[in-house]
Amino acid sequence: WLSKALFGTNVMITTGATFEAIDPVRGITNISTGQMGVALARACRRAGANVTLIYGQIQTDLPNGLTHTIQAVSADAMYQAVHQSVREQDVFISVAAVADYKVKNASNEKIKKQAGVAPVIELTENPDILASVSQLDDAPFCVGFAAESHDLLNHARAKRQRKGVPLLVANLVSESMGKATNQVTLLDDEAETELPNMGKDQVAEAIVQRIAHLLP
Ligand code: C5P
Repeated sequence: WLSKALFGTNVMITTGATFEAIDPVRGITNISTGQMGVALARACRRAGANVTLIYGQIQTDLPNGLTHTIQAVSADAMYQAVHQSVREQDVFISVAAVADYKVKNASNEKIKKQAGVAPVIELTENPDILASVSQLDDAPFCVGFAAESHDLLNHARAKRQRKGVPLLVANLVSESMGKATNQVTLLDDEAETELPNMGKDQVAEAIVQRIAHLLP
């Protein structure tokens, strides 16, 4: 089935961690490795899709055979890269762990240590890339991820509504980030489907299968 499930569709995927600069050598990031998004890119490719992969910081190899691969390291850069070609997409899968905040007072010069004075880092909100895409007229079919540390399903149901996405993939941080395996629940209009703990390639295939089933 997989070889034709998304035949000829354009799929954009974001993955990895964003990096928000504090100064030219320091920044704020997170523990996402990009493996889940890369596994999804491979699965979409095997399903016959044309895949655009936009990635931040990743700790895994890029797959072959993708239509476009674009690195965008900060949330603002990722937002720009996504909106550059998201209107050509049929499906948008937002796997990236995008920082909710960036540094407001980032320095162009390396901050020097000053005895007895701790610098103050001020934060300001980043754009929500997924919500900005799901709100477009003629939006692609949007898939969001929710990584939670507790009360997974309640947070995930609320997030699916708030982000306005037809399919949300929920996982616990402890089961997913930095691991080769993942245990996810798929939430959509038809069902809440809890999948077993599996390798990320198998999880990706199950997600692709669900997308193909739900696609209008
Ligand atoms: O709100 P939260 O960060 O938990 O939402 C997670 C989902 O939203 C993921 O699909 C993530 O890729 C996306 N997201 C985004 N832009 C942000 C924050 C999250 O696209 N600034």
